Amino acid sequence: MLNNIRYRNMNPYRNLVAGVDTRIPLDNGSYTTAINFDNAATTPPFLSVIKDVDSFIPWYSSIHRGKGYKSVVSTNLYEEGRQIIKDFVKADSDNDTVVYTKNATESINILAYILSQQKNGKDVVLSTWMEHAANDLPWRDKFTVDYIETDEFGRLSMDDLESKLKKYKNRVRLVTVTGASNVTGYINDVYAIASLAHRHGAEIHVDGAQLVPHLPVDMKPFGTVSHIDYLSFSAHKMYAPYGSGSLIGPKSSFENGLPYCQGGSAIALVTHNKIWWEEPPHKDEASTPNLLGIIALISTIKTLTSLGMDNIFRHEKSLLYYAYEKMKTVPGITFYSHPEIQETIGVIPFNMEGVHHSLMSAILSYEAGIAVRNGFFCAHPYCERLLGYSAQDMEDMMRDPKSIFPGIVRASFGIYNEFSEIDRFIAFLNQVALNKKYYVDKYSNSRGRYNIKNEV
Ligand SMILES: Cc1ncc(COP(=O)(O)O)c(C=O)c1O
Repeated sequence: MLNNIRYRNMNPYRNLVAGVDTRIPLDNGSYTTAINFDNAATTPPFLSVIKDVDSFIPWYSSIHRGKGYKSVVSTNLYEEGRQIIKDFVKADSDNDTVVYTKNATESINILAYILSQQKNGKDVVLSTWMEHAANDLPWRDKFTVDYIETDEFGRLSMDDLESKLKKYKNRVRLVTVTGASNVTGYINDVYAIASLAHRHGAEIHVDGAQLVPHLPVDMKPFGTVSHIDYLSFSAHKMYAPYGSGSLIGPKSSFENGLPYCQGGSAIALVTHNKIWWEEPPHKDEASTPNLLGIIALISTIKTLTSLGMDNIFRHEKSLLYYAYEKMKTVPGITFYSHPEIQETIGVIPFNMEGVHHSLMSAILSYEAGIAVRNGFFCAHPYCERLLGYSAQDMEDMMRDPKSIFPGIVRASFGIYNEFSEIDRFIAFLNQVALNKKYYVDKYSNSRGRYNIKNEV
């Protein structure tokens, strides 16, 4: 108990992150310290990342073909980074390759393009009902896509995965699934999914955008049944917002076919008659790379590793449960996830009865200095389902110019968040619940300040 209290008063991670003490204005003209509960969207940088990027800047130079001293230093850091990334997620040193990308979205677009050229008679991709658009849309124009069902609590149905793998027999090229949902925070059992997929002759891609920043990831050894074939993630969700990400997968998958983006750096030799592509991963890294982004990614991996991903997960889980239990006492709150029945990252999707999701976000921001997110979080079908709307309902809404779109409010935690920030959040939610009419009137569309109409 004593330990708990002491721990709650001093978050060991707080001072590692930039901007935690930023003062921002409120609607009444006073200032407060900003609270950021929108970490599932993006995270502020580690101070160590800023420092590493800054100290590298005098060394910044062209990579690969430059012979200058700085070019050699830059090239070495760029290339050595791949092994650091592999070690972080336990990818295979020999068989896997790491492609540097802009973000998870670009990683998945690259993967979809590459695999669409290697169908080998398998024309089906199984995505799921809980995916972010980044892990749904890139597959749609290239494969027959079917979606693994979620149950009444929004959890992925393993039974439906198995029955769809059976239904399509040997036609499934890939099962593509999020490691953790950006809406409910549910963590999927990617190893069980991998085992099932492999047993049915399919590969697995894990969208790690919400997984890699929050818990230890292990791609497992090549050739084992629970091996993760492909993994994507973004650095900006892991305290390194400098525009980089990664796609990891077997080198052999990247050897044949055309790259998604074509141009310089991806080529070994070009004549007007023929293109000889570079070896992977360079083939999929056309143009001059975002070296500062890679330096930031490598730096954040070093910091996260030194903190211990297990510790990070434990800390964020304690924030989650603390907030969740207190939110249960606020009148009129509906939750859209159930951390008591499914392992969850630090994400709480909710609504308050009688307060539109967009107004709630605005009220939290302008009255209390608390940043959350609202809408459908780019996981539209999942949110529509969680809220009980059909695809037809959504089409009808799109057609009706008077529609006010439904949505969800999402609070999401990072390692630097404090229990005291959650206390401030809960106190303010209670204040809104008790003075609903006042706040809704003040911030409603009738005043013309916030357009809540089409915000998803
Ligand atoms: C689960 C999930 N996948 C993919 C993405 C896309 O990531 P990015 O915008 O960094 O490409 C996000 C972003 O929120 C996400 O939450």
